[in-house]
Amino acid sequence: MAAGQQWFVKRFLGMGSFGEVWMAQNPGYPGCRAYKFFTQAEGRSWMKTEQKNLCAIKQKLDGHPNIVQYLDVNAEAEIPFLALEYAGGGNLEDWILEGPDGERPVMRLHDAVCGLVEGTAAAHREGICHRDLKPANIVLTEHQHAPQVKITDFGIASVVDEISRESGHETMGFGTPLYQPPEASVPGVAVNGFKADVFAIGVIWYQLMTGSLERPPYDFGERISRCGADSHTVRLITRCLASPNNRYRTAEELRSEMTEMIPFRDLIPDGILDVQHVFREYLCTQ
Ligand code: ADE
Repeated sequence: MAAGQQWFVKRFLGMGSFGEVWMAQNPGYPGCRAYKFFTQAEGRSWMKTEQKNLCAIKQKLDGHPNIVQYLDVNAEAEIPFLALEYAGGGNLEDWILEGPDGERPVMRLHDAVCGLVEGTAAAHREGICHRDLKPANIVLTEHQHAPQVKITDFGIASVVDEISRESGHETMGFGTPLYQPPEASVPGVAVNGFKADVFAIGVIWYQLMTGSLERPPYDFGERISRCGADSHTVRLITRCLASPNNRYRTAEELRSEMTEMIPFRDLIPDGILDVQHVFREYLCTQ
């Protein structure tokens, strides 16, 4: 490490895939970093094989506001590590569990979902899927009002090569069951990683709306309607959670359907957004 680059671990943040995450500071540098240490044996060997991918991810997703930045990757260190941009506002899982009566930062649900979709769409455009999207992997910046969401732990993401990108197919063997699509539990079935991310977004969106960490039940549409979701939102979530053939193919596709709403969103109160959908369909048939 170059002189002046001494980082000191200060606070344990949690367990991540393959190891520990710590907050670190450097006396010669303002701000903090998050360090992810690959303390487990399989983590070390995984890190060595994935180093090239991690460097590619670092370059391709550089600077996106909704993605935790990789600042350093070192697979050769005594304990291999990733240095990450630090987001000091906790994670979305804790934010949901805290509930509106707790001391959590004030965040518009719509902003959280848009940030999640924007970040995932940017990765999908680069051929990168996350494959383990969940509230614990979404961290918040340290703002009491309107914190920004950032997706972290692209640690098990894959840079899908050009050939498999054509079909988008690969097998799953990782991830968190609550957020995985049903097809991932069918033995021997190849799962499209982009669609798996879209499904996870649907689950997280449902959880944000209902304030619970449960898997959406079969009547999820009714439940989120009762929580104030307009019918366009219900339709978007339905297509995230749909069977693979009816699901958005990428977060980019979902994003484009969401952004159609944005110019109207703040002008029209929730509950009368139905007309946008009818209007769009009407225009399409002209
Ligand atoms: N936990 C996992 N990654 C983190 C990050 N980048 N910032 C803060 N906490 C984290």
